[in-house]
Amino acid sequence: MRAESETPQSDNPFTIPVASRLRRLPPYLFGKINKLKYEKRVAGVDVIDLGMGNPTDPPDPQVVEKLVEATKDSRNHRYSVSNGIANLRREVAIRYKKRHGVTLDHNSEVIACIGSKEGFSHLCLALMGPGDTAIVPAPSFPIHVYAVVLASANVIALDVRDPSEYLRNIAYTCEHLYPRPKVVVANFPHNPSTTTVESDFFVELVRLAKKYEFLVISDFAYADIGFDGYQPPSFLSTPGALDVGVEFTTMSKAYSMAGWRIGFCSGNSEMVRALATIKGYYDYGIFQPIQIAAIVAMRQCDDFIVDLSAEYQRRRDVLCDGLERLGWELERPKAGMFVWAKIPEPWNEMGSIEFSMKLLDEAGVAVSPGRGFGEEGEGFLRLAIVENEQRLRQAVREIGRCLRREPVVTP
Ligand SMILES: Cc1ncc(COP(=O)(O)O)c(C=O)c1O
Repeated sequence: MRAESETPQSDNPFTIPVASRLRRLPPYLFGKINKLKYEKRVAGVDVIDLGMGNPTDPPDPQVVEKLVEATKDSRNHRYSVSNGIANLRREVAIRYKKRHGVTLDHNSEVIACIGSKEGFSHLCLALMGPGDTAIVPAPSFPIHVYAVVLASANVIALDVRDPSEYLRNIAYTCEHLYPRPKVVVANFPHNPSTTTVESDFFVELVRLAKKYEFLVISDFAYADIGFDGYQPPSFLSTPGALDVGVEFTTMSKAYSMAGWRIGFCSGNSEMVRALATIKGYYDYGIFQPIQIAAIVAMRQCDDFIVDLSAEYQRRRDVLCDGLERLGWELERPKAGMFVWAKIPEPWNEMGSIEFSMKLLDEAGVAVSPGRGFGEEGEGFLRLAIVENEQRLRQAVREIGRCLRREPVVTP
């Protein structure tokens, strides 16, 4: 596994003496498919790209306008502060109160990051080192594994698709591993499996964290994309959560600001301080106009995120209806930006990487092979609902044609 990437990356071993932490990274399983996608694009093929959770919708226009306005102010071109300007952190705290009933001190319990991925990675570096262990969800969003490996710590990946079993296995691991795991990662709505939880999951997680003395990192990237009335619960809204953990949120998904690179880490003040310390050495903060525009987004764009969530729900239905007509087995996700689908027979025998290559080559549809998210993902595909409804219908038609089974009813 390696971070999803649009450009082909080489699998060749380094010829220079790179650090051992680079050599410990797991093999790159998206390589072949990324290379083929790149070649198709270069050859002028109109690839329908459901591979990455990279939103194609633009942000709310008022956010872009604020960015332009703030960029014209010459005072905003200096280095900013690495933990984020105070008004931005205050806005995050206000939003947590409004959405999840959580009270946060924006000075000690909130920090801005260059996207939640950067924050997550540096927090792992701040908390873990050789000999430490983190439990992460499997199948795994790649950075949940890489960040721990890059911190020279060990990974135990536990299947997350049955959340009660995930909790039982966390407890079992804590009982039997010495030294005990130091960190447990939660990620609901989960990428890639789309697993969701209710708030009682976090009550039990906090109980276990206190009993076994581990720290919790909740990755809440899909906080605001829920379907059919489902609102993903925040880990931080659980009593006692602030004693044991933090939660990452992001402007990338619900606000469609992925390229802006802005996210937040909120919660336990000591963990926030650990992240602030390491970031203080590594960076000078996010371009200030981006921070100012993000304040506007959080203050004024509630309707935008409601509408976008409804749009993702329609796309989910178009894709799931279409794939079901092709005879695919899948669970309709309750949240997030992905559909996690079982590879139908007889194609499942090919393995997810080869099958994804076939869909890309013969149908012009790029998807992520489940194997790219670890062994637990084999037999599945992850399809990002980032293209519009018409393109998703086209994707289903092309997949049906490529598998020589046309949909029973053409939408
Ligand atoms: C679960 C999860 N966490 C984190 C991220 C990265 O978010 P950001 O853009 O804030 O770095 C993603 C993006 O795909 C994600 O799916």
